[in-house]
Amino acid sequence: MLTCVIDSHVMRGPKPMSNARTDRIRLAVFASGGGSNFEAIVEAVERGALPLEVVLCLSDRPEAGVLERARRRGIPAVVCTPRTFEDEAAYVAELLATLERHAVTFVALAGYLKRIPAPVVHAFHGRMLNIHPALLPAFGGKGMYGMRVHRAVLAYGVKWTGVTVHLVDEAYDTGPIVAQEPVPVRDDDTPETLAARVLEVEHRIYPETLRFFAEGRVVVADRRVRILDAPE
Ligand code: GRF
Repeated sequence: MLTCVIDSHVMRGPKPMSNARTDRIRLAVFASGGGSNFEAIVEAVERGALPLEVVLCLSDRPEAGVLERARRRGIPAVVCTPRTFEDEAAYVAELLATLERHAVTFVALAGYLKRIPAPVVHAFHGRMLNIHPALLPAFGGKGMYGMRVHRAVLAYGVKWTGVTVHLVDEAYDTGPIVAQEPVPVRDDDTPETLAARVLEVEHRIYPETLRFFAEGRVVVADRRVRILDAPE
């Protein structure tokens, strides 16, 4: 059995990126859309509920609303669009260089629609999270994002959906689950009403889960993730 404590201070696994040995996690948020989760994370930091620093916002889409939210708050906002690079290797090199330039030590995907290339996943092994608007492993996988998830949930007729925060591996939505919270499906729900209720939970659970990492309280044993009690 493979067990490791994900400790932002110790930085097990991949070598820390240069200049990254600070006490606090230096977080990059990757997003393709409006960025309400980005905002929730930054607000949690600002009100003292999340002891880390958001140092970068990265998007694959120049028109993504999240970029404006970052600029308004003085957080560096960077666009990195895979198809503008000659090949995957050039794209990967730029992604890694950008993360290194900002001394990023942890990545949170928040509505980021592009697959993360394997070398980047490896560089951030155990230090990259994604949030998914359903209870994985149901309603996940390639092509299952945004409203598509909520439409599929309603079409199937399940009574409960929810939110999953998981570590990122090389596939879509399959990494070890760190946190989940159920949300009831109502008889009169539309994809929009359901999305809004799920999103409310996302905004609370993502900062809470990041906090576990910021406090070095996450233990991963194969697929099972345990959160250690907070110190007294
Ligand atoms: C969220 O529902 C998230 O779970 C999904 O994409 C949506 C992003 O919303 N992966 P926002 O851009 O954070 O508002």
